[in-house]
Amino acid sequence: MDIRWSSAIAATATPNTIGSSRLPKFYNLPLHERANIAKNIGKLTTAEFNSLNNYQGMSRELTDTFIENAIGTFSLPLGLASNFLINTKDYLVPMVVEESSVLAAASHGAKLVRAGGGFQAQSTEAIMTGQIQLLLKDVCPYDTILKEQRADLINYANVGQDRLIMRGGGVCGLDWHLLPALNHLIVHVHVNTCDAMGANIVNTICERLARRLQMLIPCDIGLQILTNLNDQRRAKASCEIPAKVFDCTRFDGLEVVERIEQAYQFAAHDPYRAATNNKGIMNGIDPVVIATGNDWRAVEAGAHAYACRSGHYKPLAYWRRVGNYLQGEIDLPLALGIVGGVTKLHPNATAALKILGQPNARALAEIVCCAGLAQNLAALRALSTEGIQKGHMHLHAKNLQQQRQTLYLEQR
Ligand code: MEV
Repeated sequence: MDIRWSSAIAATATPNTIGSSRLPKFYNLPLHERANIAKNIGKLTTAEFNSLNNYQGMSRELTDTFIENAIGTFSLPLGLASNFLINTKDYLVPMVVEESSVLAAASHGAKLVRAGGGFQAQSTEAIMTGQIQLLLKDVCPYDTILKEQRADLINYANVGQDRLIMRGGGVCGLDWHLLPALNHLIVHVHVNTCDAMGANIVNTICERLARRLQMLIPCDIGLQILTNLNDQRRAKASCEIPAKVFDCTRFDGLEVVERIEQAYQFAAHDPYRAATNNKGIMNGIDPVVIATGNDWRAVEAGAHAYACRSGHYKPLAYWRRVGNYLQGEIDLPLALGIVGGVTKLHPNATAALKILGQPNARALAEIVCCAGLAQNLAALRALSTEGIQKGHMHLHAKNLQQQRQTLYLEQR
């Protein structure tokens, strides 16, 4: 089908109440003044304005510290998904999400997996990778130089990282590849960031190492930044569920298992379906990432880039029938931290980590990938049997009814 482009903004007659979005020194104003500007621009009602100023979880000071130009906070529901049995341990999984049926689906998926003995999960060391782009000026035996200097460069890159090294982390590897079309040499520096997500650590190391590399190789320095395709820092989980668990009115369990495998195959061969399938997986992953104060954009970027690693966009989880069982597996990059950033500052993130029993970063990644697998299973089971709308619409209808009731009570 042909697509047509036009601008909805240009075509909209709505008067622009801002005048100009240039607000010099907006960031210097106290938060309450910024909030008042927002109130006027948006013509906010008192209720909307009060909602912006609801600092139940996070103080006004923290809000102002986390981001620039803050005018308030934005709440989302935090719930607990039940039934998770991971490596023989039970978990209630905190999830922050606005979509109805996500927690119900995660809990249902985990219940099905539980019937087969639960999830088996593993993770790699927390190895993050930074990229340094060297724009080569001359022909240079960079391979020989870098091989000879590798150990020294690693030592140099580790200077200033004493605390990380004390915790068993630090720079642990260096490799490189040429982008022949550009004549750019890309140096990858691998860093064990332990319990930190590690973006700041890696970026600091890249910037330091770049200066040393320039002394060895005639080049201009380009970018020095981590990659979110952190494929050395992954978590995986698997499960095996007896087919009889899937028995339902329309199908017997084995038929459901076969239909789930067919649904997986559809995604494996069709990127349009794979995108929706993976959205369903991220329905399980993102809410836990958010609840624990982690960077879900980084996780999303890594997951989708990893889904493309073969050159084709593929499902992140894999399902197949083996005898009278359904086997499932997921494997994806997960850069999660439990120290630094928002994780230790946001009181609700701290609470979420406590509810999970204070996992270290690797254990958290294992839990998160199980949430993704559970969510995928629940979606594929529903899609392969009664369809997604039945359960979804039931919960949606319940929410709407509740909403009407609240409005009614407010209006009385
Ligand atoms: C909806 O948020 C997610 C699903 O579309 C996922 C899927 O189709 O696998 C139900």
